[in-house]
Amino acid sequence: MFKADKFVEEHVKSVSDQIKGKAIIACSGGVDSMVSAVIASKAIGDRLLAVYVDTGLMRKGETDEVRGMLEDMGVNFKIIDASKEYFEALKGVTDPETKRKIIGEKFIRVFEREAKDFGAEYLVQGTIAPDWIESGDGVRDTIKSHHNVGGLPKDMGMELCEPLRDLYKDEVRAVARLLGIKSSERQPFPGPGLAVRCLGEVTPENIEIVREACFIVEDEIKKAVADGKMEMPWQYFAALLPSKSVGVQGDRRAYGKTIVVRAVSSLDAMTAEFFMIPLEILDKISRRITNTMKDQVNRVVYDITNKPPATIEWE
Ligand code: XMP
Repeated sequence: MFKADKFVEEHVKSVSDQIKGKAIIACSGGVDSMVSAVIASKAIGDRLLAVYVDTGLMRKGETDEVRGMLEDMGVNFKIIDASKEYFEALKGVTDPETKRKIIGEKFIRVFEREAKDFGAEYLVQGTIAPDWIESGDGVRDTIKSHHNVGGLPKDMGMELCEPLRDLYKDEVRAVARLLGIKSSERQPFPGPGLAVRCLGEVTPENIEIVREACFIVEDEIKKAVADGKMEMPWQYFAALLPSKSVGVQGDRRAYGKTIVVRAVSSLDAMTAEFFMIPLEILDKISRRITNTMKDQVNRVVYDITNKPPATIEWE
């Protein structure tokens, strides 16, 4: 059986044995990067710098939440607001792969700058076992290679330190619970953030709409789970479609945007089944989205496709 306390003790020691100078970690607030940051911080204190890049594409309240977690855990950290730079770079771009590429490259550039300023010689990463098993190393297909978007290239001229390399997700969550990390049970969130849930052009206005819609979906589902009305899906969110449709507002004909609600069950994200959210909850979600964003959204639809043939995200 996996012993989280033994794991922490051993890896705080191995990280402190490995890292002789300064180290840096890109911390998204997700469970893998948070656990790695906390272990490394216990090992080397302020010789570690955790960098959180606010891309402007994060969920509602996420930056403050991550700030709170890093403060609570006593990790030396820096938050960089790069949202203007990201929106500028994404102006006019609608192709999904181009979006991912731009976001990935920008992230690397911002992070490299910080690593250099801090004088980091080591790069701590939250790589876990499925990350390197699924990447295939040429043996398997690399369906998930795009999932490194928002991640970092192999050679950044720093020595790698990957304390979670041998762990599976449930074990990382066990370590997170032991360490008192609040994001221990958080659902997956893609590296490129809300940009891949905003089909068509990524503008601050569109991101605001999908951010609010994602928040409503998360909030209503969490409430329904707490009330025993449904099980917790593996992942659940909203996406904004690029097309408009006709609706009515008062006695006027309106032309508004469409929000898709997506919820899936899955074990490892390689395959997934659409989740059967009770109709009563879907009704609540739909009404709340269209009431909250009356002037922007006039239609809410529910995605009932599995993976394959669809993917979990829309881009
Ligand atoms: P898809 O959409 O390919 O997603 O079925 C499978 C899982 O991976 C997440 N995802 C990403 N995670 N960087 C990440 O760290 C990415 O670029 C990325 N793209 C998708 C997605 O949310 C789902 O959990």
